[in-house]
Amino acid sequence: MEFEIIAKCHTTHARVSRMTMTHGTTYLPTFMPVATQGAMKGLTSQQVEALGVTLILNNTYHLNLRPGTKVLDAAGGAHKFQGWRKNLLTDSGGFQMVSLSSFTKITEEGVLFASPYTGEPTMLTPEESIGIQHSIGADIIMQLDDVVHSLTTGPRVEEAMWRSIRWLDRCIAKHKSSGRTDRQNLFAIVQGGLSPDLRQKCLDEMVKRKDDLPGYAIGGLSGGEEKDIFWKIVKQCAEQLPEDRPRYCMGIGFAEDLLVCVALGVDMADCVFPTRTARFGVALTRDGPMNLRLDRHRTSFFPIDANCPCLTCSSGMSRAALHNLVTHETVAAHAITQHNLVFQASVMGGARDAIIEGRFPQYLKDFFQRYFADAA
Ligand code: GUN
Ligand code: ZN
Repeated sequence: MEFEIIAKCHTTHARVSRMTMTHGTTYLPTFMPVATQGAMKGLTSQQVEALGVTLILNNTYHLNLRPGTKVLDAAGGAHKFQGWRKNLLTDSGGFQMVSLSSFTKITEEGVLFASPYTGEPTMLTPEESIGIQHSIGADIIMQLDDVVHSLTTGPRVEEAMWRSIRWLDRCIAKHKSSGRTDRQNLFAIVQGGLSPDLRQKCLDEMVKRKDDLPGYAIGGLSGGEEKDIFWKIVKQCAEQLPEDRPRYCMGIGFAEDLLVCVALGVDMADCVFPTRTARFGVALTRDGPMNLRLDRHRTSFFPIDANCPCLTCSSGMSRAALHNLVTHETVAAHAITQHNLVFQASVMGGARDAIIEGRFPQYLKDFFQRYFADAA
């Protein structure tokens, strides 16, 4: 990939950069919508592209179960399979196994889990994860990591951190031998839980492997830890990751978290939150989340946000109409999902403009003042 920093904020660690890969250019910082199964829930690939989104996320674990690598290979990769022409990132699968599977056992060889369809024990090794990600053909692929929940304490956190480093080396070796390093970019994932000491050891080791790593992620967060601990770990990681590599904070999607992470030097983030909350009838706005199921929207004949450029708002579709549909018609979920993805893009696009124009601190201040003001 080509990665070029365009502008930096003088008072925070925020920066704007241009990341160019086989499927085009993505301007950072950016929020990546999640299309877990090779489809955005509620929107077609064409609709997502029309929103101006240039980078989405798919999941190795899910695509391996269905449709599987045979179909993906025959299709010529996940881009063609799902009709997505822009950049694609795949998560490695370890995290999903831990969060979804009925039983998982981590061994040095890989993650052992029960197939959700057959119940049969199945092993995912670092080499297999990379192999599946080669069949998918994502522009950015993630190492298989040993993930523990962020609130885990004791020796298991350190064990997982060192194992993630060993698995990184196996992922690097597998990826280099594939001859695909010109098209697919492998990112490492920093682990170490909430311990600055363990994070430091992980950072030192992973930064040493910089020549084989076009980018880095910060993992193992967003599991309900205290905000100030979360911020300290993100700060420590972002400060020490190489300046000339994109930094991706995994599983972050609340607007307030995104902006703090950007201020700390993070370039990319992903989360199912904006699309999932849309399906529950919650629209994201500059004044905070708006729950359209609430009765007070029954006769509210305004769009979600009159200043929002999304099709839902600019067409004039009313909050009342959405309220009326949201519990029983999927069209409300489509309309709100569309709005929420435009909202996420505008929070990040607004941050990029503000960084370029030297007014990012004011942008943060204005955003937080309005977002957390008491509802009128
Ligand atoms: N998604 C959210 N957090 C993580 C993490 O630590 N590792 C991986 N692979 N995916 C994640
Ligand atoms: Zn809108």
